[in-house]
Amino acid sequence: MSEEPRASFGGKLSVILVAAGSAIGLGALWRFPYIAGKHGGAAFLLVFLLSVLVVGIPAMLAEFAVGRRTNKNAVGAFRSLSKRWSWLGYSGVLGALLISGYYYLIAGWSLEYFVNSLTGGMFSSDIPFKEQFDSFQGSWRPMIYGVVFILMTHFIVARGVEKGIEKAAKIMMPALFVILIVMAVRVAFMPGAAEGYKFFFSCDFAEAFKVDTIMMAIGQAFFSLSVGMGCMVTYASYFKKNNNLVSTSLNVSLLTLAVSVLAGLVIFPAVFSVPGLEPSEGPSLVFITLPEIFKGMPLPSLWSAIFFMLVILASLTSTISFHEVLTAYAAEEFKISRKSGALATTVISIALSAVTFFGLFGIDFFDLFDNVTANMLMPLGAMFTCIFVMWFMKKGFMREEITNYGQSNNRVVGVLLFMLRFITPILIFYIFIKNFL
Ligand code: PHE
Repeated sequence: MSEEPRASFGGKLSVILVAAGSAIGLGALWRFPYIAGKHGGAAFLLVFLLSVLVVGIPAMLAEFAVGRRTNKNAVGAFRSLSKRWSWLGYSGVLGALLISGYYYLIAGWSLEYFVNSLTGGMFSSDIPFKEQFDSFQGSWRPMIYGVVFILMTHFIVARGVEKGIEKAAKIMMPALFVILIVMAVRVAFMPGAAEGYKFFFSCDFAEAFKVDTIMMAIGQAFFSLSVGMGCMVTYASYFKKNNNLVSTSLNVSLLTLAVSVLAGLVIFPAVFSVPGLEPSEGPSLVFITLPEIFKGMPLPSLWSAIFFMLVILASLTSTISFHEVLTAYAAEEFKISRKSGALATTVISIALSAVTFFGLFGIDFFDLFDNVTANMLMPLGAMFTCIFVMWFMKKGFMREEITNYGQSNNRVVGVLLFMLRFITPILIFYIFIKNFL
């Protein structure tokens, strides 16, 4: 409640782990490999890297500044800086709602796959994985696992910012890195791994210059870095005044890039080790193609369980973050307790997932939601946040925030401010319009 002193994250490392926890999720592990597989492998990686540098990092800084300056939820933060811009906070809340409508369901798939790996059910039958996936989709189980995932998220968020969110990130993120590295090393020894590396690292420049590729890469940068929908605003509202925003955003981006590349290093060599599988498989890459690969390995259940555990950990630190956007909004704007805010968020998330699940079966609906958030709402949200902080806030606002009132000034600051003022918003606008035409 507003009378209590506001919570804050601990030191430098906590802040990085919590923000990286939000960033690293299905975006890096599931979305990145299949989009890269469809858009030229290394070519996509290159454009993605540039997108992170030119649009992702500046936009994240803008959100950090808004959140930390105001110490408020996304709506309250924008409103307290300028009444006329409070809609940007609402657009963030809308984004968090849309993501809640499908993210939990996909995260729930990995729960099902984890359980099925452990019980051995997945590998004991001869039913092709495509059929297993389809029959899973046709049953009630995705909804049930989706709800379980929402409840897991609820449990952590309801425990609070420090005891729940921060503690979870401190345990889960290191575990995630260890698992990912173990998997990458294991896959390197598979036959055909070299073929996969070749695919992932050979660059088709023609692909890199296509508007479609650039648009997808920018969308991926937003989605993967959790920017453009109030998430980093909300998290930064728990930062301390002496946290260095620039180094935090750099560290978070580097970690996200590293995990995306590692995910590619796990998935592409593995795909090429089984004849007949395609790297451009699409969203089902992780859920149909990978099990096929595990099946050919000794101890398939073990590796499969480890892999899906990885997806669960990564997704959970992300679901926590958009649950928190809504929880903080509900608690602070409607002046209810944090627990009630979390409960309201959980109920709404279950309802939205049910709408998605029962409304339409199959992947396409997910695709639509995913597209609206990643390729529309988030880019526009980020663009207007940059415009707001650079053109409509009082002069010096961004400089004050990113230098901690002059205490950590260096040469990068000038470059970042220039990008924020001109390059980032113009680039987002250009790509957005171009894609529309
Ligand atoms: N960045 C998260 C991921 O890659 C998704 C996310 C988007 C989380 C927006 C919060 C806000 O999985």
